[in-house]
Amino acid sequence: MHILIVLGSPRKKGNSETLAQSVASGIREIPNTTVEFIRLNDLKISPCQGCGGCNKTSTCVIEDDMTALYEKVDHCDHLVLVSPIYFYGLSAQCKTFVDRFQARWARKYLTGIRFRKDEQRQGILLATAATQGKKVFDGALLTAHTLFDALDLECGESLLVRGVDQRGAIHKQPQTLEQAIALGRDLATGKS
Ligand SMILES: Cc1cc2nc3c(=O)[nH]c(=O)nc-3n(C[C@H](O)[C@H](O)[C@H](O)COP(=O)(O)O)c2cc1C
Repeated sequence: MHILIVLGSPRKKGNSETLAQSVASGIREIPNTTVEFIRLNDLKISPCQGCGGCNKTSTCVIEDDMTALYEKVDHCDHLVLVSPIYFYGLSAQCKTFVDRFQARWARKYLTGIRFRKDEQRQGILLATAATQGKKVFDGALLTAHTLFDALDLECGESLLVRGVDQRGAIHKQPQTLEQAIALGRDLATGKS
């Protein structure tokens, strides 16, 4: 089993990355699983141009660092999208990544191809926010779930953490990091 973790924060070792590392340590407890991290901020990914080029071919006309990510996402067993909340939504790095999957939306809804639908592949969102806002994760969840649908991924259990702002603040919530380890374990064993 291969699990792809996509980091969307520009901040290294920030709260969302720390959460993702805990999920990864839970995954690694399970034999025969591999984890691969992608740090979006290190890549050059252009925003979708809305050109419609993918409508017939399901392939994006832009060639950049996203080109290799389509393959990685197609072939992973689970996808973990990791983002800080920026203005009640995903970070720009994550949103740019998500929008480029218009090519996969086109594959599913315009060509009718249901890619790996038979398998129990999941997409999960890990997100962190500074505030306790009731609706602070609503925007990010809607976007992530729309992505998972386009990719024919089941929506798995998300882990959404409020009240963490400064880098490292999440270490003050050890129970949350324990929850993240358990989530990783469950994801890798198919229990979630
Ligand atoms: C540009 C920007 C916008 C933000 N917008 C919000 C917001 O709308 N709501 C909120 O609760 N926190 C907001 N935050 C705080 C981050 O979500 C929070 O610090 C998060 O834990 C950062 O995760 P990271 O350390 O992985 O980058 C914002 C931070 C930045 C830099």
